[in-house]
Amino acid sequence: MKIKLLKDYEELSSLVANIVETQIKEQPLSKLVLPTGSTPLGLYDELVKRELDWSLVIAFNLDEYIMNIDHPYSYHSYMRKNLFDRINIYPDNCHFPFRPTLSFEDKMNVIKGIDLCILGIGSNGHIAFNEPGSAFDSRTRVVDLTEQTIKDNSKYFDSIDDVPKQAITMGLGTIMESKKIILMANGKHKLNILKVAMNGEVTEDVPASILQKHNDVEVFYCD
Ligand code: GLP
Repeated sequence: MKIKLLKDYEELSSLVANIVETQIKEQPLSKLVLPTGSTPLGLYDELVKRELDWSLVIAFNLDEYIMNIDHPYSYHSYMRKNLFDRINIYPDNCHFPFRPTLSFEDKMNVIKGIDLCILGIGSNGHIAFNEPGSAFDSRTRVVDLTEQTIKDNSKYFDSIDDVPKQAITMGLGTIMESKKIILMANGKHKLNILKVAMNGEVTEDVPASILQKHNDVEVFYCD
């Protein structure tokens, strides 16, 4: 698979913002899947600047920790702070995986599924919180986080002991049903896993490698 190399983080953020902008303008009632992490922060800033009309958009987040969703480090709080409170999306149209997970999936699929899914990638090749070993046909579910992910994500918490050990995540099968997928990655530490995932063996040991089987994926990287 082709990895498109971009000159810097601004270009990465702006190029993916162009794709989201086109999607929302061409189809105001779009269903989007959105990521968290440090990678999409520039994208969200760029989208806010563009003052798009989000009034008909329905957003689904990829994942959430098993924790109090009002905690400042929850993904609910992250999304409110970095995007939802800065645009005219309706709070009732912002969804996060919840239990029972099949009801969440039903909600995603009411009226023909997801139009555009934006992903980041973890240093161990995870997408959303689908850790190595996740089944390619997995659905939304509760998962245990690996030591590596807990360590990587501890930078967002006061201490590593505060990082939740479990999360609720869309499954790989769920993600693969999106009509279009964009994978964003930045930083030299992501390049190797990105190459392995996009051009190596398709294996459940590298969850992102399943994207090689999707017919509309674009992968953008800057160092
Ligand atoms: C978390 C999220 C992933 C995200 C990954 C990478 O684990 N669950 O969805 O892709 O972090 O985050 P970052 O962009 O901070 O490297």
